[in-house]
Amino acid sequence: MGFKNLLFKNNNLALLGGEPVIRKPLTPYRTIGFAERKAISKVMKGGNLSGFVGAWCDQFNGGPNVRKFEESWSQIFKCKYSVSVNSNTSGLIAALGAIGVSPGDEVIVPPMTMSATVMAPLIYGGIPVFVDIEKDYFCLDIKKVELAITSKTKAIIAVNLFGHPAQLRLLRDLADKKGIYLIEDAAQCPLATENNIFAGTVGHIGVFSLNYHKHIHTGEGGICCTNDDDLALRLRAIRNHGENITESLKIDNITNFVGFNFRMTELSASIGLEQLKKINNFVSNRENIAKKLSKELSSFIGLKSPLVRDDCRHVYYVWAAKINSKETGVSRSVLTKALKAEGVPVEEGYIKPLYLLPAFQRRIAIGRNGWPFNLTNRIYEKSLCPVAEELYSKSLLEFCICSYELNSSQLSKVIDAFQKVFENLNYLKDYDLRNCE
Ligand SMILES: Cc1ncc(COP(=O)(O)O)c(C=O)c1O
Repeated sequence: MGFKNLLFKNNNLALLGGEPVIRKPLTPYRTIGFAERKAISKVMKGGNLSGFVGAWCDQFNGGPNVRKFEESWSQIFKCKYSVSVNSNTSGLIAALGAIGVSPGDEVIVPPMTMSATVMAPLIYGGIPVFVDIEKDYFCLDIKKVELAITSKTKAIIAVNLFGHPAQLRLLRDLADKKGIYLIEDAAQCPLATENNIFAGTVGHIGVFSLNYHKHIHTGEGGICCTNDDDLALRLRAIRNHGENITESLKIDNITNFVGFNFRMTELSASIGLEQLKKINNFVSNRENIAKKLSKELSSFIGLKSPLVRDDCRHVYYVWAAKINSKETGVSRSVLTKALKAEGVPVEEGYIKPLYLLPAFQRRIAIGRNGWPFNLTNRIYEKSLCPVAEELYSKSLLEFCICSYELNSSQLSKVIDAFQKVFENLNYLKDYDLRNCE
């Protein structure tokens, strides 16, 4: 039924045919400016678009911009080594290779993250073991992690989801106690901290993303942080055809020295150097936007703004709220539609728990083994991670604030739009009923 035919009065909600609060799409977040263009031109004029050579020589570790970018990253993030790569995905693969993941090793992963986190172990024949997340902070639940550790566990990948750190210190202590590794997927959290220590530097290796919709970016790119000499060497080897350097360096344990081409170009690194100069401003700006949003929306019944653990800095790649439909009286789906109709680009539920992907549920038989071949005997049952499933199907509402510019006038409009919807929930109840019939 078209809503114009509805007989009840409404307060002009856009979903019910009224005028939206936000008439034009929000301005996309753009951080590339004059400085980046100038840096690129300089590299172009010099003609060296990449400085890598895949054999043991001075250029094994890349060109001048790559090295400078890595040094600057290490200084800012206070870690011994930063190893740039061409994506966070590559960085995660390199990290798991560097710690020596081998066929049959179990790697603990959260179910709510970008798929790259959980696919990376498969490259080495590792087995992703999904462990549920905390209902308030959306990161790995350490108590459940502890229960999931077996004699086969090689590593935990903690994702600092939405820009909020997982319980990193405790996870690292647990990993050390059990003799396993903690890898951080820090794709979404540059400058987030736990106890004043940067997320991405607490684990044995932390991997950031520099893809184009992150706080800072190089188009595509990533960077791995570690304080460990051996892991740094292995990361660099996996990044750049490591099989070629084991003889020259007389490396005894050549496990996982098979390399890839994960190298960052001089062009990307030169952009990264400029972006790093602005990172504090960019991140603080995001943080201020999110805090204002949370404060202004805190009194709305049925909406719970993102929580921040006491000792943490959240950098809000995503502003993730929780909706209580019993309290709002309307389904999350109708609430989301109403907000979208007002011009606020919110989404329901973020990412479906990843073990429900066809890759895990519908494994294809090729010869004797299914694909992915190392998961042949593994069952990823539904309801494996009830918290993640509940967030996905019922309560989580995400607003990817990192995708938009959100100047103060746009932010006010976003707040007005929420207010309009939450003040008119009664009209949505009718809409919800009619659409459920
Ligand atoms: C949590 C998480 N992990 C991994 C990735 C993959 O990053 P990249 O695109 O740099 O490979 C992303 C990208 O959005 C992410 O958000």
